[in-house]
Amino acid sequence: MRQIAKTALAPALPENPPAAARPQQNDRAHRVLTDAQPANSRWPARLDLLQSLSGLVLALFLVAHMFFVATILISHELFYSVARFFEGGWLFGEPQPALVSMVAAGVTGLLVAHAWLAMRKIPAGYRQVHAFSGHRRRLRHGDTSLWWLQAMSGFALFFLTTIHLYDMVSQPQLIGPYESAERVWTGGMWPIYLALLFTAEVHGGIALYRLAVKWGWFADIDADAGRRRLRRIRHAFSTFFITLGLVTLLAYIDLGRAHADRGGERYALPGHVAVGHGKP
Ligand code: HEM
Repeated sequence: MRQIAKTALAPALPENPPAAARPQQNDRAHRVLTDAQPANSRWPARLDLLQSLSGLVLALFLVAHMFFVATILISHELFYSVARFFEGGWLFGEPQPALVSMVAAGVTGLLVAHAWLAMRKIPAGYRQVHAFSGHRRRLRHGDTSLWWLQAMSGFALFFLTTIHLYDMVSQPQLIGPYESAERVWTGGMWPIYLALLFTAEVHGGIALYRLAVKWGWFADIDADAGRRRLRRIRHAFSTFFITLGLVTLLAYIDLGRAHADRGGERYALPGHVAVGHGKP
């Protein structure tokens, strides 16, 4: 009986495979192991760094942009001069609105790249969202909830920003006190700008805070005290730029309403004739 059972079984694997077979098996096992260990790859860290850098460049761009757009609060002439400065007339002899289009297209590209890099970390599907919500409830840490707010505001921002950037790429010549005010009021863009303003400032503020925590900027010996200080800076940052943006938006709305019956009129510096390029 024992004899029959023995022959019916598949031939047993040799306990010690021949020496020549071993390196091959070891190679395969090594490959399986290394393929299953993404921790050995430097790419996640590189992509993380790229995400931080692209976010930082976008945040700095936004800060500068808010000040440029707010020059309307000082005078129409100043905002007009800033807009023409970016068209490079001082360099090329003639204003080149295509320069603004190119910068806006570059910002769009950076935004898409940044969103793509960030997408890696956003929970996909019901199961992952459910798992994340569970972690968030258990951890009860303000910064985990903040991350969720950042992810959601980033999602909304992608759609809101691309609407605005499309205008800037396609109508760069229509940036000026009357032209911008007309787009904001008569063109009905103000609700988009209002939503964009809050979303961008909240997202940007949280992003800078998280970058500072992650890379240890202004790190204190006491980590909690450091975070508290960074939180105060974040609130001050968002409050300042939301207030500046609201006052600026009101100035465009006010001018747009006052100018509504003269649609299509181009702004000209006092004593000058309106620049004719790119009439609407
Ligand atoms: C090169 C790219 C960009 C250009 C040339 C540009 C230019 C302008 C201009 C001229 C205005 C005044 C209103 C108008 O003319 O329609 C404006 C308003 C605004 N822009 Fe941009 N923009 C750019 C990118 C962005 C981005 C990436 C954001 C946000 C992430 C943004 C947020 C806003 C907001 C919130 C307003 C409303 C005004 C305010 O509340 O201060 N812009 N932009």
